Amino acid sequence: MFVEVAYRDQDTPCYIMKMSLLTRTTEEFSSTEYWEHFFKKRGEKAFDWYGDYNKLCGMLLKYIKPRDKILVGGCGNSELSEQLYDVSYRHLTNIDISETVVNHMNQKNAKLHQDLTFQKVDATQTPYEDGSYQVTLDKGTLDAVASQEEGVLAGRMLAECLRAESVIGFMAQLRVVAN
Ligand SMILES: C[S@@+](CC[C@H](N)C(=O)[O-])C[C@H]1O[C@@H](n2cnc3c(N)ncnc32)[C@H](O)[C@@H]1O
Repeated sequence: MFVEVAYRDQDTPCYIMKMSLLTRTTEEFSSTEYWEHFFKKRGEKAFDWYGDYNKLCGMLLKYIKPRDKILVGGCGNSELSEQLYDVSYRHLTNIDISETVVNHMNQKNAKLHQDLTFQKVDATQTPYEDGSYQVTLDKGTLDAVASQEEGVLAGRMLAECLRAESVIGFMAQLRVVAN
C-alpha cells in the first residue's frame, strides 16, 4: 500500500528554518555531510518535518498495529517514534545516516523509552533480513535522497523498504508534493 500526504502550511520547513541551514543545491539534501552539519548546527531541539504526531496519528493508528515491527527510515530528531511508543507501539527501529542525531536520540531516550532503538544505518543499504518488518515508515527521507540526480538513491531506498518488509507489509511514505 502507498500513502502520500502533503502539507503546505506553517509547519513546512522552509518557513521556519534558518536560511543558513538550507542547501545551496538540492542534491546536497542526500549527503551525509549536509545532515551532520544540519544536526550539529541546529542543536538538539526536536523538529518534525511535514507534520507531527497530532496531525498524522489518525492515519498511522488506523493502518499500523501496536504489535507490528516498524522500520523508521531517516528518523532525524522527530518525536513521532517516541509518541507512537507512548501509545503502545513497542517494536520501532529508527535509522538515520547522521551519527550526531542517532547519538542524541539514544541519549534522550535511554531512560524513558529504553527499548526504542536508534541506529546509524543508511536507508539505501540496510543490514536487515528480508521480510523482517511489517511496516516501513518514512517522513521526508525519500524526498532527501530523491534530490540526488537521476533518483538512483531513491530507487535503492524504495527497494530496501520493499526487501525489508514482509509480503503483507505496509509502506507509509510522507512527502511534499507539488500543488
Ligand atoms: C527531511 S529529514 C526528516 C526527518 C524525520 N523523518 C522527520 O519527519 O522529521 C530527512 C532525514 O533523513 C536522514 N537521511 C538522509 N539520507 C539518509 C539515508 N540515506 N539513510 C538514512 N537517513 C537519511 C537525514 O539525516 C534526516 O534526518
